Amino acid sequence: MATILAIESSCDDTSVAVVCDRTVLSNVVASQIKLHQTYGGVVPELASRQHLEMVNPCIARALEESGLGWDGIDAIASTVTPGLVGSLMVGAMAGKTLAMVHNKPFLGVHHLEGHVYASYLAEPNLNPPFLCLLVSGGHTSLIHVKGCGEYENIGSTRDDAAGEAFDKVARLLNLGYPGGPVIDKLAREGNPQAFKLPEGRVSLPNNQGFHPYDSSFSGLKTAVLRLVTKLKEEMGEENLPIADLCASFQATVAKALTKRAVRACLDLGLDTIAVGGGVAANSGLRDCLQSACQEHGLTVYFPPLKYCTDNAAMIGCAAAEHFNHQGRSPLNLEVSSRMSI
Ligand code: KG4
Ligand code: ZN
Repeated sequence: MATILAIESSCDDTSVAVVCDRTVLSNVVASQIKLHQTYGGVVPELASRQHLEMVNPCIARALEESGLGWDGIDAIASTVTPGLVGSLMVGAMAGKTLAMVHNKPFLGVHHLEGHVYASYLAEPNLNPPFLCLLVSGGHTSLIHVKGCGEYENIGSTRDDAAGEAFDKVARLLNLGYPGGPVIDKLAREGNPQAFKLPEGRVSLPNNQGFHPYDSSFSGLKTAVLRLVTKLKEEMGEENLPIADLCASFQATVAKALTKRAVRACLDLGLDTIAVGGGVAANSGLRDCLQSACQEHGLTVYFPPLKYCTDNAAMIGCAAAEHFNHQGRSPLNLEVSSRMSI
């Protein structure tokens, strides 16, 4: 058993959690969404300043809500990659300083590993091997999880990440930022078959067909842009069938992701898919994947909604896995904006 105090600050949320293996004792999230909304996306300089202001109050609250004192904490963990460097530095420095002051081991965690392990927080029986469909604002990957720290990335997006596609389509429909939750809500009132949109496939060389696991969303985004421009001309901007557009777009993304995940899972001889990342909250993806998995005799796990988007509980859970496997990081570990899992 490992009790971890974890800090996540890779993008626009400052979050601190106390996690005992898969049990969340506290999870504090200070969202910066309002701060960045005016700009239509995350402004890195503003994000790191805000992390600086929020990190200490969040640490104090997370510890207090956990009901533990520092002597109840086995190790401190911080997200160290990938993400915005200035933002990562705030969380990493805070974590290393606490580790030094309280004489505890430090663990630097890969943000995507956090998303992989988010499903553990509700599932005591989920264990490797399984396939992780990781769909966030910055990544879209199919990861063969063979064990703790043993990952093989078998498919990725060639252009936009799934969450990025949601955000860009929301922007072109004037729905604000972040786009995923708004599109998800509007799609419930629309007809997913109203418009036929291209799924976006990645060609293999020499006319060998299409890559079975890689995805591409930039063509879909352009197709929505063209369709919206045409509809605006035909019926005027105020009469745009927003709900039908959202439903059709969401269904296309859900189908593309489901097809690849199920195919990869079957090809690898696995029987379980765990989904992670902000887009794992999407109701269209949840329904589509659930019914495809049922059809093929596969089990699918989704994290609870609050652990789909960025949070420190999932970072704590990933750190606990490593800690239990003797994982420790040196205090001079650097943060980095990019690193494969
Ligand atoms: O995992 P996350 O919080 O941050 C990254 O690590 O990128 O994911 C954020 C992304 C955003 O693009 C957001 O629009 C998307 O997740 N998202 C959703 C939903 N909730 C968040 N996309 C589709 N449907 C949702 N319900
Ligand atoms: Zn994330």
